[in-house]
This record gives sequence, structure tokens and C-alpha cells, in this order.
Amino acid sequence: MASPRPRPLPPLDQLGFSSIAVHAGERLTPFDSRPVTTPIYAAVAFESPSAAELDQVFEGTLRGYCYARHGSPTCEALEETITKLERGAGSIAFASGMAALHGAMLAAGVRSGDRVVSSQDLYGATQALFRDVMAPLGIETRYAPATDLAAFERAIEAARPRAVFVETISNPLLRVVDLPAVAAMARRAGAKTIVDATFASPLLMTPIALGADFVVHSTTKYLNGHGDATGGIVVCASADSLAPLRQVSKLVGGVLGAFEAYLTLRGVKTLSLRMTRQCENARQVAERLVRHPGVARVHYPGLPSHPDFSLASRLLRGGLSGAVVSFALRDAGRAEVFRFMDALRLCCVGTTVGDIYSQLLYPAISSHRALSPAERHQLGIGDDLVRLSVGIEEAGDLVADVEQAIDEACPRRSI
Ligand SMILES: Cc1ncc(COP(=O)(O)O)c(C=O)c1O
Repeated sequence: MASPRPRPLPPLDQLGFSSIAVHAGERLTPFDSRPVTTPIYAAVAFESPSAAELDQVFEGTLRGYCYARHGSPTCEALEETITKLERGAGSIAFASGMAALHGAMLAAGVRSGDRVVSSQDLYGATQALFRDVMAPLGIETRYAPATDLAAFERAIEAARPRAVFVETISNPLLRVVDLPAVAAMARRAGAKTIVDATFASPLLMTPIALGADFVVHSTTKYLNGHGDATGGIVVCASADSLAPLRQVSKLVGGVLGAFEAYLTLRGVKTLSLRMTRQCENARQVAERLVRHPGVARVHYPGLPSHPDFSLASRLLRGGLSGAVVSFALRDAGRAEVFRFMDALRLCCVGTTVGDIYSQLLYPAISSHRALSPAERHQLGIGDDLVRLSVGIEEAGDLVADVEQAIDEACPRRSI
């Protein structure tokens, strides 16, 4: 068996108590026993065969590991997998989707005095990142509706931004952005396009192929899919962007832990199976809710009534339209929505999307809580709106659960 160490330990009987306690029992993976899956490499420091090679690893001229904040094998296995799925040039995993968004902005060169043009239909914490972290650093964000291409282009031309930011499928109204058109506008203005592709995942859309410079995921969502690991990732379209991105990750230090990388890597292996089923379930739930008298509106890009139905059919792969359905309960306010939430039996009331478990979220008290009622209404997010992230349960069971909860919350509006 090959020695797992580049240099063998000194004989243990020549070592003192503490040296033996630290080194004697260690079971390092021998080079000649290959597990089928990538192990969790929890180590913080990594040895090199020689000091000269360690010097090159630190310099970045030799591929290898030295210190976990600079890169580590389990994270790199995840990064390589997602780079391949996104057809990018490289990627870096972060400790959360928010850390990844922040990393992408810095890697795109956004600095004090710069402007960002963003779509206005966004995840609430991203808006808060722009307002509470970036604005005090001298970075101005201007919002425009990315679904109105003429208005969005006017905003880009007026701002001359460093970066343009959009979500592939927005939250919670599930508007689909015409990414090829937006990326072309950004390129004409000399701006980088950063896309939060969390809701579509690489199964439905690969934004780099449509012109994006950076793709960001909250891997907490579909990529992991099991609700047990928080994480994020930034994928670069060009190898030139990878060095600044790695520098941000090394120096800001919001890196993904090895345990989370392992869980996420395991989740990614079943992404296609899970998400295909989730999208099919979501379609069935949406089609059923459209006909329910207790539901005033259903937002789902796979319904012909959705404003982006044809764009979604063109841009989203495999005939899939995403696995989130938002809907408004008829004539409902907070009291009715609270009763509806409390009446759900199968669907969890939770604040995430993408899990195998169906989860319902009430934007007014959670993702969009920081906005005033007037701001929410202006975005089309009324007090009657709920968002269902559809899981892999039986579609019939999900429909039955949602319908019984509507019946209980709004008895006069049931079928
Ligand atoms: C679209 C989108 N982007 C980013 C995030 C932030 O991800 P995380 O919670 O992993 O930081 C979320 C979280 O819900 C999200 O929905």
C-alpha cells in the first residue's frame, strides 16, 4: 500500500506525549483505495510533497491545496461539477447564496462610484444587500423592469452601469427575463451581466450560453434540494474572472464548509430527477388552482395566462416551467391567509424553495417583510399572495392538501 503521507512520521517512540496524541491515530486516505464518492475532506491545512511545490501552490502556479479558505478538495469537486453543468470556465463555492451574490458583484469589478442596474422583481435580501451594504460603500443601484425591454435598455443607457443584475425566474411573481436580450444590452453598454439563476437551476437554463458573465446560485435551494445545507456558488463565463473571484473568496472568507459541499454535491447528483418531478407536480397544482373558486390569480410561467408564457417556453428547457407556483386567495387578507397556512397538513410552512418537501411561504411576512405595504403592492405582491415551492410528493396529495386548507380558511369560496 502506498504511504498516505509524503514523508513518514518519525518513530512514535521518539515523540513526546502531545505529539503522539496529535498524530498517532490518524487514518489518512491511502492513495490506492478509491471511494466511489468524494469524501468529506474536513482538513484545514494540506501538505505538499516539497516546500518548492507548496510555494507554487501558494503562488497559484501549481494546482493543489494549502489552506481550506484558499480551496479544498470537497468544495472543488462541487465547483467542478457545477462549472460543467453551467458550461462555465470555473466557479467558487460560498457559504450562502448571499455571500455568492456579494462575491459576484466584487468579481465583476463593482466598486465605489459605480452603478448597477437591476430588475426590480427581486429576492428581498438581494435588495437589502444593494441598499444596506453596497449603497453605503458608494455603489448606486437603479431599478428598472427587466420584463419591459425598452425601459430596461433606457435605464442601462442612462446609468452606464458596471453591472446589470437579473434573476432568471423572479421571486415571487415568477416573471421570466429575456436573458439573451438583456445580456446583449449590457454588453453594448460595457457592463457585466450577473444572473441569479437559483429558481431555474442549470437544469432549466444555462445563462452563460445566453450571454451572462456570472451565474449565481443559492445552492441551498434546488442544487442541494434536501433542506440540510446552506451554500452558494458563482460560475464565471470567462477564465479571466476566476482569479478576482478567488481573491474575493480568499480575503472576504465566506467559503463553503466541506460538510455542506459534500451534501450539496450529493444533492446535485439527483437534481434532474428531483426537479423534473417537482416541475411536473407544480404544473398539476397550477392547473388545478386556476379552476378553484377560492383562488383569485395563479402565477406560473407554464400557464398560457402568465405574461411570460411564450418566453418561458422558448428559454426554459425540457418543456419545464419551474417548480414554484404563487397564487392569491380570493378576497383574502392576513387573517384568511394565516388560517390557510395553519390548515395545511402535508405542505410545510417554511421559508425556502427547491426542497423535496413542498413549502409554503407568505411573502408579506417573510421574504418581502422589509418593504412597506405600498411598495409590495406596487410590485404586485398583495396581502392575498402566497408562494408554494412544490416538492416531490404525489401531485394529487398536494392538490388535496391545498384545497382542504382553502376550504378551511375561506369556507364560502370552496368548490
Ligand atoms: C433567488 C434567491 N437568491 C438568493 C438567495 C439567498 O440564498 P441563501 O439563503 O443561500 O443565502 C435566495 C434565498 O432565498 C433566493 O431565493
